[in-house]
Amino acid sequence: MAPGSDLGIVRQQLSAAQSITALTGAGISADSGVPTFRGTDGLWRNYRAEDLATPQAFERDPRLVWEWYNWRRELIAKKQPNDAHKALVELERRSSDFWLITQNVDGLHRDAGSQKLSEIHGNIWNARCTGCGVVEHNHDVPISILPSCLRCGSLLRPHIVWFGESLSTDDLDDCSRALKHCDVLLVIGTSGVVYPAAGFATLAKEAGAFVAEINLDPTPQSAVVDIALHGRAKDLVPLLLQSI
Ligand code: OAD
Ligand code: ZN
Repeated sequence: MAPGSDLGIVRQQLSAAQSITALTGAGISADSGVPTFRGTDGLWRNYRAEDLATPQAFERDPRLVWEWYNWRRELIAKKQPNDAHKALVELERRSSDFWLITQNVDGLHRDAGSQKLSEIHGNIWNARCTGCGVVEHNHDVPISILPSCLRCGSLLRPHIVWFGESLSTDDLDDCSRALKHCDVLLVIGTSGVVYPAAGFATLAKEAGAFVAEINLDPTPQSAVVDIALHGRAKDLVPLLLQSI
């Protein structure tokens, strides 16, 4: 790889960086076989994620929403982290200051071994009581419909940040610190249209970071970043770590 190539430039930036942040989306798990949200394989019974991942949808028809999550639980339970997830674990190990922000709820970053991370949209293996608010880990596949709280008997909902809901303040604080502080931000496999994550590349850029996007295709973020690399995350992310 020529040093002046885009890949070479991102590698140089990573080698020189004191602090690295990565932001991931569904594209990184696509290489593990998890459907993305905005790809055609992300559709379920002709519903789009935006029609199901909302508090209103759950209020209207909790059974339908839980059935969708059961479909996704069954899918995800069979999947393994891929080389891109593993490369980010390696990057965490090698960097003195590293933070991973993921929009994915599949838990594959944790399965791979990432520890310094914010799962800003939650985790599909956690459920939260609509009555008392307790969060329980639940790995049942499928989960019984409709699930109820062991403590108070109220209905459980997925512990996921849905459209129209806010990120936790702890996650927002961690993300803000990581984005403002990093020398390099890698934006991997996200369409960059769902806020607040869609604003993270701009935030890091304005704070002085070098920002690189890794995606199969151009996205609205491509215009904001310093370099956009096009290809599969599972190929490109490990390549970025070679010789740094
Ligand atoms: P999307 O489905 O919107 O976008 C996936 C992105 O990954 C697209 O830009 C693809 O081009 C890219 N992609 C696909 N395969 C890839 C591969 N093998 N390597 C690299 N890139 C690839 O998913 P997100 O951006 O993660 O929210 O969506 C953001 C949020 O919207 C999700 O967290 C979810 C969704 O509704 C909630 O569930 C609350
Ligand atoms: Zn309860």
